[in-house]
Amino acid sequence: MPGPRRPRAVLVSAGLLLVASGTAVALAACSIGGPGRVTTVGEVDFDTPLPVPPLARSTVEPDGTRVFDLEARAGTTEFTPGATSETWGFNGAYLGPTLVAERGERVRVDVANALDEATTVHWHGMHLPAEMDGGPHQMVQPGDIWSPEWTVDQQAATLWYHPHPHGETEQHVARGLAGMFLLRDEAEAALPLPREYGVDDLPVIIQDVALTDEGRLETAPQGFAGRLGDELVVNGARGPYADVRDELVRLRLLNASTARSYAFGWDDGRPIDLIATDGGLLEASVALERVMLSPGERAEVLVRMEPGERRTLQSVMTPEAAGLQPVVAGINGATDEFDVLELRAADSLDASPEVPERLAELPPVETDVAATRIFELEGFEINGRQMASDRIDETVTVGTAERWVVSNPSGMPHSFHAHDVQFRVASVDGAPPPPELAGWKDTIHVRPETEYELILRFDDFADPDTPYMYHCHLLWHEDQGMMGQFAVVEPGQRATMTEETNDHDHH
Ligand code: C2O
Ligand code: CU
Ligand code: CU
Repeated sequence: MPGPRRPRAVLVSAGLLLVASGTAVALAACSIGGPGRVTTVGEVDFDTPLPVPPLARSTVEPDGTRVFDLEARAGTTEFTPGATSETWGFNGAYLGPTLVAERGERVRVDVANALDEATTVHWHGMHLPAEMDGGPHQMVQPGDIWSPEWTVDQQAATLWYHPHPHGETEQHVARGLAGMFLLRDEAEAALPLPREYGVDDLPVIIQDVALTDEGRLETAPQGFAGRLGDELVVNGARGPYADVRDELVRLRLLNASTARSYAFGWDDGRPIDLIATDGGLLEASVALERVMLSPGERAEVLVRMEPGERRTLQSVMTPEAAGLQPVVAGINGATDEFDVLELRAADSLDASPEVPERLAELPPVETDVAATRIFELEGFEINGRQMASDRIDETVTVGTAERWVVSNPSGMPHSFHAHDVQFRVASVDGAPPPPELAGWKDTIHVRPETEYELILRFDDFADPDTPYMYHCHLLWHEDQGMMGQFAVVEPGQRATMTEETNDHDHH
């Protein structure tokens, strides 16, 4: 078992929050409490055309490798005209271009670091060798270029990229380093779905920010979840609207916020049609009241517009949706409401085909597993310990499937993200997963007092020297050490960083 159990006291009173755990995280009353309840519903002037991140240009080498260039650099952004903020971006001042690659394609990204501090670029959701993953072991020093390459070997999906320097991820993402990475494949291309980038297929990168009265970026108040801004930017813009001229519109929602979770829906209460989760299409579209996304999660949704109408995407979080007690919810953004994005339909719309009933074939969730591992999220620890760069926490044998049982015995919000593979959720508290958790996932919101049974298959990329990460994707928590490392090895191989024999009880 992982070490002696420590007290699980969680005291919440009048904005004072103490979380007693292994590391005795104590936060002074003055530094925590969040911004208080926030609502921007009805208060957003949608007066800025939604910026669409440019498609990243690429070249193709003689051997067929598609090569992209990304440069992390500092710049300035005017969230309000005339008020400049210091921001970071890839190939620009804020966020980055959208990379697109086909399944089966060999890709390389030449990542240059023009910042004056080290960073990394991690390909969130991508199945690739650990050395190419862009985690904390692949730091890119200022002035250096890092050139990972791999073959895209997974279904069409909305992935993303962001820095992962240990202890600095929240800062680097909050300053603007993030972008989308879209994967296409033949199966998805054969479906009559909207896929004209920036026209009927819109990237929607949602982040919360705190701005001064003049409109300059400032440090957002700290809740237990992390820093919570009191307004949103979408693709870097305040108050965005998008003109559409097709009946059917696809939105690729990415929660690129460092701490905040959202529950997206439409202003008129019509259901929101979810077609894909983190790792690709669902078997069939599902009509939900709201689509909840914790930091790092993605969702593709469809909306059918009427000529001339205006429709607002909103986020309405509730303590129930977050699974939090009301007082905890109140200081962690889980009672907040936002107007997010307005869609403006042209007076005449191009007709769009019906959405097919069947979108994808998902294999049944595997039941034959080689190992079961337990991941308890509590305080800033997983299984009672914090990230150590020189310790491999879990060693996985290549060619096997595993069951990872993830739970959150605390009353606080957490999430769980695993690198390398897309997983399936076999059960939530012993019951079959709801439709939004029934497809391919790489990140899940982990509700308090709830147990998630994940099935992960590790079919390649054995490397005893380089680990992948698993962690809470609330980036402040990750930075505080709520992260662990796993290595994928050949049968009988030992991960070289292992300092101790693994003391978990594996079956
Ligand atoms: Cu999106 Cu390890 O992160
Ligand atoms: Cu990741
Ligand atoms: Cu957490």
